[in-house]
Amino acid sequence: MNDLAHRFGRRRVDPEERTRLIRDVFRRVAPRYDLMNDLMSLGIHRYWKRVLVHEAEHAAPRRVLDLAGGTGDVAWKLARGDRAVDVCDPSLPMMQVGRRRGPANRIGWVGGCGERLPFRDQAFDLVTIAFGIRNVTHLDVTLQEIRRVLRPGGRLLCLEFSRPAPWLAPFYDLYSRLVIPRLGAWVSRNPDAYLYLIDSIRAFPDQETLAEHFRAAGFTGVRYHNLSFGIACIHQGVRPPGDAS
Ligand SMILES: C[S@@+](CC[C@H](N)C(=O)[O-])C[C@H]1O[C@@H](n2cnc3c(N)ncnc32)[C@H](O)[C@@H]1O
Repeated sequence: MNDLAHRFGRRRVDPEERTRLIRDVFRRVAPRYDLMNDLMSLGIHRYWKRVLVHEAEHAAPRRVLDLAGGTGDVAWKLARGDRAVDVCDPSLPMMQVGRRRGPANRIGWVGGCGERLPFRDQAFDLVTIAFGIRNVTHLDVTLQEIRRVLRPGGRLLCLEFSRPAPWLAPFYDLYSRLVIPRLGAWVSRNPDAYLYLIDSIRAFPDQETLAEHFRAAGFTGVRYHNLSFGIACIHQGVRPPGDAS
């Protein structure tokens, strides 16, 4: 979702209210968030995140920001050797769950949102964002902020739900509408929160449109590849090596 589509659930809301409602969604789902991910995706999100981490390792980054890191699912996989990994997320309940997953000193946990990152310019070699870009209220501002905190030549890797292949779309739609809210009700006792999830996926830009947003924010080498026939997609872009603004 982006500046063009301020939707929440079945109604339209203004950006501030949307931000508040999303905070509330993640506060409510935090305790069962990881379990719900496994159930809803039949474990496939683990494979998608492994692909993301594999791509990240190519860049051999020393300083990594996992934006919208939530419970640190990606960050914990990236925290190896002497690499410095920070999670940044506005949801303290999500990060509290994440902190309990491993030794306290491996990851930095920083409260903040994508639209206004609490980091200095050029602080990171790599920024990852997994299933988070859809939740920011101001997509283009967030992409600019990511570019600012990357060093020139640094890379953005973004894993997000996207537009599935046309043959798959009707089955995926049925599954989303029938199964996910029921799982949300049984396991997380938050069917509304999972209605938001489905709605936000539908409203989010498709693969090519998101790539255009990356380019407009000043990233070069923008490319993407689909996962599971486009149910998810990894986009990447590079802060131009000569860009020191
Ligand atoms: C679906 S979770 C993804 C968590 C984790 N990256 C993962 O893949 O499991 C989305 C996260 O985005 C965070 N979020 C919501 N609004 C945000 C914003 N404006 N800026 C950064 N993160 C945001 C939420 O708090 C939540 O933790």
